[in-house]
Amino acid sequence: MRKLGDHVAVRQPEDIFTPKTIVSREMFARRNEADLHGNPGLQDNLCDALRDRGGQVLIFGDTGVGKSSLIKYAAEDESLEAVTIECLSSKSYADLIEDGLRKLIDVREVKKTSTASASAEVEASGKAPFLLTLKGKLQGKYDRGREFEIVSKPPLDALLEAMKATGNKLLIFDNFQNISNQVDRSLIAQTMEFLADKSNETGDIKAVVIGIAEDASSLLGGSGSFRRRTTEVGVPRMPDDEIVEILKRGFMKLEISISDPIIRQLVFYSDGFPYFGHLLGLQVSRAARREGVDSVTVEMVETALQRAVKDVDRSYRERTRKAFEVGGQVQPRRRILEILSISDKREWRSADVISAYEDRFERRSDYAFLHTSLAQLIDKKHGSVLARSGARNSYIYRFSDPQMRPYLRLTAFRRHLT
Ligand SMILES: Nc1ncnc2c1ncn2[C@@H]1O[C@H](COP(=O)(O)OP(=O)(O)OP(=O)(O)O)[C@@H](O)[C@H]1O
Ligand SMILES: [Mg+2]
Repeated sequence: MRKLGDHVAVRQPEDIFTPKTIVSREMFARRNEADLHGNPGLQDNLCDALRDRGGQVLIFGDTGVGKSSLIKYAAEDESLEAVTIECLSSKSYADLIEDGLRKLIDVREVKKTSTASASAEVEASGKAPFLLTLKGKLQGKYDRGREFEIVSKPPLDALLEAMKATGNKLLIFDNFQNISNQVDRSLIAQTMEFLADKSNETGDIKAVVIGIAEDASSLLGGSGSFRRRTTEVGVPRMPDDEIVEILKRGFMKLEISISDPIIRQLVFYSDGFPYFGHLLGLQVSRAARREGVDSVTVEMVETALQRAVKDVDRSYRERTRKAFEVGGQVQPRRRILEILSISDKREWRSADVISAYEDRFERRSDYAFLHTSLAQLIDKKHGSVLARSGARNSYIYRFSDPQMRPYLRLTAFRRHLT
């Protein structure tokens, strides 16, 4: 932390705005909007689910909407210690369980033995079942130096014992969308059933599966018995008010003043993603610090936006290049994308696009050209910027990639301050 004068500690932009990682407690905005199913009180519902005896939890939503941050602070509020396992695509179910163990224990010795008489209820349906013999010490954070030893147990049982010994109550599998192997996926689903049924013995250790998905079943589909034990929490985009609050709080902590119109502009670019709120907050406050001033100007915003765009997925640039016409008077694909980019909806029927076209551009007697252009925007040849669902004559269009719209807002369709 930089010191100005004798006593005042000046905070740095990166202490406050953290686009690449989970938000800090001081910057965390409570999420009490409705979830993706329309149930009000997102965060309260999650906390209730964490209290349900035997209940398991599945959290899904777009990338960058705040899933990992939400579970961290919901668990903290419920005073539940959690072990978080990162689901990398290279990992099998057994690897994930072992990763969990290694977070709790400084493993000194580990031996795996295959077993024919698989007592392991969960592991049994995997490949070759095996038992684990393990020696080590509980990690310093939990109990400095206490020995931990298990002999010939299924890996999951070993992990549950280690969680009990360290007082951990939640087993979080984050970024679950990376696990593409069906066997590993169904082992996790079975683990959830197993934990639900054994809640009395485990002291109610729960699994929480988190991943990028549009709905719960595409993340972890399963039988009725599994779903009955699991609360599904769909994390929506963040309401604009919450993003306003994040930005205002951040700039206040940095002691940088910023006008309401500039805040509103940044909120427009964020398009409901706290990720973009943080990214823009970081770049704008850095611009102010670089110039050594304590208020944000329009010019600084311009520089900051350019820097922020560099952090966004590189493929978007190529895809928009394919989507836009190279020349021509009307450029209908470009016009459609402009309409959808500045709209406050997230899904449109053709009729919505036509009426917005009339409002923004001109009235026509024939709209065949718009139907054609909408269809082209789905094509790979034109960057597959849009996706279409529903039946013929009642198609519904949306951006194929949720962060495409903030990208378009930041690049082609800026909102200019007047
Ligand atoms: N409730 C919140 N209040 C303030 N900032 C938040 C909140 N939730 C998330 N953020 C910020 O949004 C960004 C994304 O958050 P997070 O990593 O939790 O999202 P995610 O949904 O887990 O993303 P991914 O799917 O990519 O893992 C981070 O910059 C984080 O600091
Ligand atoms: Mg995450």
